[in-house]
Amino acid sequence: MNKKSSTVFVCGNCGQDYSKWLGKCTNCGAWDTITEMRGVKATPSSRVVAAAPADVVAFSGLKVDESYRVAGPFGEVDRVLGGGLIPGACILLGGDPGIGKSTLLLQLLSAWAKGGTTALYVSGEESAEQIYARAGRLGVADAPVLMLTETSVEAVLHKLESVRPGVAVIDSIQTMFSEALESAPGSVSQVRESASVLLRFAKQNKTAIVFIGHVTKDGSIAGPRVLEHMVDTVLYFEGDGHYQYRILRAVKNRYGPSGEIAVMSMTDRGLSEISNPSEFFLQSRANPQVGTAVTPVLEGTRVLVVEVQALVNKSHFGLPQRVASGINPKKLSLLLAVLERFGGFSLGEHDVFFNVAGGLTVAEPAVDLGVAAAIISSFINKPLRRDMGVIGELGLGGEIRPVNNMPLRIKELAHLGFTRCIVPKASKKADRIEGKSGIELVECSRIGEIKEHIF
Ligand code: TYD
Ligand code: MG
Repeated sequence: MNKKSSTVFVCGNCGQDYSKWLGKCTNCGAWDTITEMRGVKATPSSRVVAAAPADVVAFSGLKVDESYRVAGPFGEVDRVLGGGLIPGACILLGGDPGIGKSTLLLQLLSAWAKGGTTALYVSGEESAEQIYARAGRLGVADAPVLMLTETSVEAVLHKLESVRPGVAVIDSIQTMFSEALESAPGSVSQVRESASVLLRFAKQNKTAIVFIGHVTKDGSIAGPRVLEHMVDTVLYFEGDGHYQYRILRAVKNRYGPSGEIAVMSMTDRGLSEISNPSEFFLQSRANPQVGTAVTPVLEGTRVLVVEVQALVNKSHFGLPQRVASGINPKKLSLLLAVLERFGGFSLGEHDVFFNVAGGLTVAEPAVDLGVAAAIISSFINKPLRRDMGVIGELGLGGEIRPVNNMPLRIKELAHLGFTRCIVPKASKKADRIEGKSGIELVECSRIGEIKEHIF
């Protein structure tokens, strides 16, 4: 490690170092975010793994033992982690304040502790009594979890060295500060330094560490996006305060596939997993209503079947309104333009409101046709067939394009009792879906064709 202490300039947005002041960060492009940091070690934080001079090893001399993964209370969360917790793994859990990060980790930590792993909860935000009270509410107060309320990273390190836990939670990394630095707790240099000190401990001692990080308004983990590069796994805990469900999403994972999600529900006794999320999101769909369509969305390797809703009304003012929630508004405009030009629906003088039931956000092109079907249904004022799913990407020429992972999507629809599905016409043999799902597939190649099949 470079022990030299000096003055460096650090970007408050992304954590990039500079040797002199600049007006604009060349790394993230933000203006006026670079400030002088005294006493910051200008060391690349990526050097956390190197403890001592390392030996060269051959592939053939290595072996992978998956059996040491620690299983937790939720199979869904283990799946997101790539099959359980790995000793020495460094995980960053980001999310909005109040979304349930501390709750989730207290539940996980208690279960790991009950399973025989030494578990330490380091809190810089709440007192030990507060956390114990919460554990009581969650029904896990009997778990042998060790508690430490501390914000000095040197003191935390000292305790880690004496306790030597198998897993530690740092709640939150923004409250930690290093006495070696002059800057205030929560500043980029403090967060980065604290994290790299703890990361080094984790790698050398095979302690798994979970850092909780608060998310800023623009959606990045406050300031130090640099943390995302340093850790092995980045998880986001997402959800809308108005709804019960929460989604744990692996944005980056060195120990498993990224993009995996677990759907959970926040109850008065903490979080519980939802192992059949599609049923959860479709639960209020008793009878098909005008302006709704059902479409499967792929999240990692998981398929969620969601209901999309549109309301199309004749506009009484000059400029028609387009209001989209759960989908990019530009995407909605684009689909409306395609429907107008190639579907023969004159929507130009209509207000269009769009929503995804349950408050989910869908970004996949595979939902295009479902969105279009909901709009057509509302425009014509007729509900879609009850047993009908809709899958397909819509091109600018009005063509329906094939989408990936068709068999998975069809399987999930069949599982929920759907018996028919509009699908893109297979252009190649590879796109053809093998039968046996019990779903009648209605192949369409142009937007104009779907009207005769969906009602
Ligand atoms: P918390 O885990 O403190 O959020 P974070 O650490 O992400 O800031 O969660 C706080 C919210 O969760 C709070 O609004 C109350 C709610 N909650 C429940 O609904 N049920 C519970 O059993 C617990 C402990 C909290
Ligand atoms: Mg918290």
